[in-house]
Amino acid sequence: MNEQVRAWVRAARHIAVLTGAGMSAESGVPTFRDAQTGLWAQFDPQQLATEDAFRANPSRVWEWYAFRREMIAKVEPNAGHRALAAFAQRHAGRLTLFTQNVDGLHQRAGSPGVLALHGNIAEDKWLDAPKKCCNASAAVAGSPPYCVRCGNMLRPDVVWFGEMLPVDILAAAEDAARECDLMLVVGTSGVVYPAAGLARTAAGKVVIVNPEPTDLDDAADAVLRGRAAQLLPILLEE
Ligand code: APR
Repeated sequence: MNEQVRAWVRAARHIAVLTGAGMSAESGVPTFRDAQTGLWAQFDPQQLATEDAFRANPSRVWEWYAFRREMIAKVEPNAGHRALAAFAQRHAGRLTLFTQNVDGLHQRAGSPGVLALHGNIAEDKWLDAPKKCCNASAAVAGSPPYCVRCGNMLRPDVVWFGEMLPVDILAAAEDAARECDLMLVVGTSGVVYPAAGLARTAAGKVVIVNPEPTDLDDAADAVLRGRAAQLLPILLEE
């Protein structure tokens, strides 16, 4: 099957790639839904990844994101991240990468023009629409930092449950899905929409890379039961 997919990669004029938490698992970043090890097996997403949870207990949510930021800062992109970046650099304009991951590892591996569907954990934004007084660099240090004048709080610039994805980034990913000859769907359980829906709107063949069954297997032309850092270098090498 790998050979079949390698032939599809060689023949594809435009490749779209959708990645999820499994893409970073071999870098040491926990996934969300893997039993026991997944973040949602240890923490309640409704207590940590919604705007209501943040308003109810800002420091608990801020601390949790600080813990994840620290963990992510200590890890490195893996061979899968690097294979995608190298392919995109060798074949300018032939690969569009959109990710659900907020860890920035694709960007750190050198992938150009990454469409970060769920934001970036290393960045902050104001919780409420900023007023003239809201200056992030002058925010009062704290968990979370806040505006000394109006009390507006900084929050991680990620998409929480119940929130909209960045419109322009989602539109660009939808375009790439509609125009692709091939879509690689790597390391996602395929349960969170609208991101998972991109695999269902792919114009080209869909290939899933995942050691476990996913909710998108029915939409696939090929399912490769393996790990991202092992399979992507094989699929994308010249
Ligand atoms: N290589 C490839 N896939 C892997 C690997 C690996 N080394 N290790 C685990 N996986 C797979 C798991 O089998 C699982 O199907 O990665 C998938 C991870 O699924 P989730 O934990 O559900 O993560 P994801 O699909 O990215 O979640 C989507 O949900 O919690 C929200 O906003 C968060 O972006 C996230 C979204």
